[in-house]
Amino acid sequence: METSRLTDQEIQQLRGETIGTAQRIHFNNAGASLPPDVVVQTMTDYLNEEATYGGYETEAKYHGQLENVYTLIARLINANVDEVAIAENASTAWGIAFNGIDFKKGDVVITCEMEYVTNLIGFLNVQKQFGVEVKVIPNDEKGNFSLKALEDAITPQTKLIAVTEIASTTGCMIPIVEIGKIARKHNILYLVDACQSAGHVPIDVKEIGCDMLSVTGRKYLRAPRGTGFLFVRKEIQDRIKPIFIDNHATDWVSLNDYQLRNDARRYELYEKNRALTLGLGKAIEYALNIGLDRIWDRIQYLAALLRAQLAQIDGITVHDFGDRKCGIVTFSVEGFDAATIKSRLAEDHINVTVGKAVSTLIYMEKNHLKSVVRASIHYYNTEEEIQILSKSLEAIIRSAIAKVV
Ligand SMILES: Cc1ncc(COP(=O)(O)O)c(C=O)c1O
Repeated sequence: METSRLTDQEIQQLRGETIGTAQRIHFNNAGASLPPDVVVQTMTDYLNEEATYGGYETEAKYHGQLENVYTLIARLINANVDEVAIAENASTAWGIAFNGIDFKKGDVVITCEMEYVTNLIGFLNVQKQFGVEVKVIPNDEKGNFSLKALEDAITPQTKLIAVTEIASTTGCMIPIVEIGKIARKHNILYLVDACQSAGHVPIDVKEIGCDMLSVTGRKYLRAPRGTGFLFVRKEIQDRIKPIFIDNHATDWVSLNDYQLRNDARRYELYEKNRALTLGLGKAIEYALNIGLDRIWDRIQYLAALLRAQLAQIDGITVHDFGDRKCGIVTFSVEGFDAATIKSRLAEDHINVTVGKAVSTLIYMEKNHLKSVVRASIHYYNTEEEIQILSKSLEAIIRSAIAKVV
C-alpha cells in the first residue's frame, strides 16, 4: 500500500501540539525528542491525582489505561501482549535480555561494527566472566553490513547474534530482517537493539524474526525520559532467565517454592513510575495515530534534504556511509571541533549534539572519527528549519574565513 505523505497542514497541527517546537529548532531527537503536549499532560494529571487521592488508589482507578500500555507496545512492534515488559530505559531492557542467557565457555556472540557502547561492555563482561568469544562483522567497502561475512562467521558455537539497527553516531542502518533470516536458519538467539529505531522506523518483530528487542522511550518515540521496554518472544521466555525476581514476577506456590509468571512481565519488578508508564503509552498511541510508515517516510525525506544541503557547503563532510540511511545525520566542519559547532548553533537556538567516538567505538575508530556533529531529524522538523541550520553553518564557516583573512 502506498504511504500518504504527511501534509504541511498536518505538520503545522502536530507542531502546534508540541510546545517545544515554538522555542527551539530541535535536531537532537536521537538524544531525546520533544514530547507532544498530551504526553506531558497525561503525566502531570496522573501525578496530581496521586498527590490528591493516593498512589495505590490512583493506580486502581487507572488500571485499564495502565494495562493498555502493554497492548499499545505490542501493537507498535507487532508482538503479542504477553511478550512485552516495561523497563526504565533501553540499557535495562537489553541487559535483562542479554544477561538472562546461559552463557558458557566457548560460546560465541556475533555483533556488528555499529553496536552501542553499553552492549559492547556487556559482551566484554561475559568474555571475562565465562570465556565467551565476541566476533565483530566488519562492514563491506561501501559501508554496508555484510550478510555474507555473517554467514561465514557462524559456527556451531554461535550462541547469539546481537546487533544495533541504528547506531547513535552514524546515519546508517543495518538490515535486521535479513540478519533475522540467517539467525532463524541457523537457530541462533537473536537480540536487536532498537533504541534509536522505535518511533523512527516501523518495527515488526515477527518480520524481523528476533527473539529479543530493546527500546527506549525518550528518543524517537517522544515518550518521557526514564521509560523503555523489552520484547522477549514467548517461545524462548523459559530460556531467558530473569536476573531479579519479586512477587510481581512470580507466584508463591508454597513456602519453599515459587513459579515464574507465564509472560514477559517476569522481567519486571512491581514498583515503577505509573505516571511515566502512562506517558509512554500516550506517546506510542500518538505515533500509531500518525502512522509509523508516514513518520518514516517524512524523516527519510527531511534527512535526505539536509544531507543534500550539507553536501553543497564547502568545508562540511557528511559521514553517513552505506545504502540505508535514517534520520540521524552526522558530519564534521573543517577547522571546528564538534563541541564548538554545537555551542555556536545553540546561540541560534538550534539543538544538535556531539556524537562521541565512545558511543559506537568500533565504527568510529575504523573510520578515524573522534567525534561528529549529530543533527537528528524528526517528522515535526520542517524544510525551513533545515534551511536555517544550513545557513547557520555557512555563517559559522564564513566567520572563521573572515578571521583568517
Ligand atoms: C543505539 C543505542 N542503544 C542503547 C542506548 C541506551 O539507551 P538508554 O539510555 O535508554 O539506556 C542508546 C542511547 O543513546 C543508543 O543510542
